[in-house]
Amino acid sequence: MNIGILTGGGDCPGLNSVIRAVVRKAIQENHKVIGFRYGWKGILEKDFINLDLFSISGILPKGGTILGTSRTNPYKKENGPDIIKNNCKELAIDAIVAIGGEDTLGVAQKLYQEGLNIVGVPKTIDNDLSATDFTFGFDTAVNIVMECIDRLHTTAESHNRIMVVEVMGRHAGWIATYAGIAGGADYILIPEIPIDIEEVCLSIQQRHKMGKKFSIIVVAEGAIFKDKDIYVQDKGLDEFGHVRLGGIGNIISKIIEEKTGFETRVTVLGHIQRGGSPTAFDRVLGTRFGVKAFELIKEKKFGRMVALKGIEIIDVPLKDATEKLKTVDLKLYEIAKIFFG
Ligand code: F6P
Repeated sequence: MNIGILTGGGDCPGLNSVIRAVVRKAIQENHKVIGFRYGWKGILEKDFINLDLFSISGILPKGGTILGTSRTNPYKKENGPDIIKNNCKELAIDAIVAIGGEDTLGVAQKLYQEGLNIVGVPKTIDNDLSATDFTFGFDTAVNIVMECIDRLHTTAESHNRIMVVEVMGRHAGWIATYAGIAGGADYILIPEIPIDIEEVCLSIQQRHKMGKKFSIIVVAEGAIFKDKDIYVQDKGLDEFGHVRLGGIGNIISKIIEEKTGFETRVTVLGHIQRGGSPTAFDRVLGTRFGVKAFELIKEKKFGRMVALKGIEIIDVPLKDATEKLKTVDLKLYEIAKIFFG
């Protein structure tokens, strides 16, 4: 078989472990793999590299993706899907492994319906994909944020300051909730629950009365006030219609300082959360996903996505991944709340 592999959407740690696993399995069984560069753009432009054992050597600890990525949407290009189908035919591609989040997998599902042999692998630091318990990339992001919160604790305590930490996650508060619990945040604000700033300030003031003169507030970039819109960095949309979130940390920080009179600083972690070497968990998950993706291709189970259910790797219909956003389990948030204030 000739297998094509691509990584689309925002990069995340663990992508290379999937690429490595697919290539290693395929080569062991005498198949060929090519890697399309920059997501769907690579198939549209026939931009690819041959993936042999040499090209994947040493990539397991590397963050990002050796193939490059982009947010190119073939359905926004003139004749995009037809070009992709023709190029796959010309390159004699038997099957494609599409590694991505809701956008990349949404395209994969449409192209599958149009006749391409595709299997999907879910990735995103946001952990917001339905049909899988976890995506790889998330654990690494959470560990980075946790370490940052640990570091902010010592400086917050030294200065008696409130530290607001803005984290990524789009419209789901998974990173904020997990990293907030792990880092011992004194309040966590997530998109799933509208911000009640009075309650946040009250909680900080109570801590002060108890003698705790510093606080760490974790806010997800997609968190919103009741009846208000999300905060965006600019009004532009990407090819999948997404705005660039960001800015809520600054707003929250100003309000807290005004209302409590306590000195407040904000740290926006941004792309730090997506960079660097994957954790062991993400390397193992990516590896298991890659091996399973290859097995699905061998079994000709196209239109499927690999997924983690409990401790098992299973496969589910591709369309299940993107049907609805997986938001934070409110039982988990209740646990986080025990430690507020
Ligand atoms: O989906 C992953 C993610 O990192 C989100 O958490 C964030 O909102 C977005 O991508 C940022 O996108 P970009 O890298 O295009 O700025």
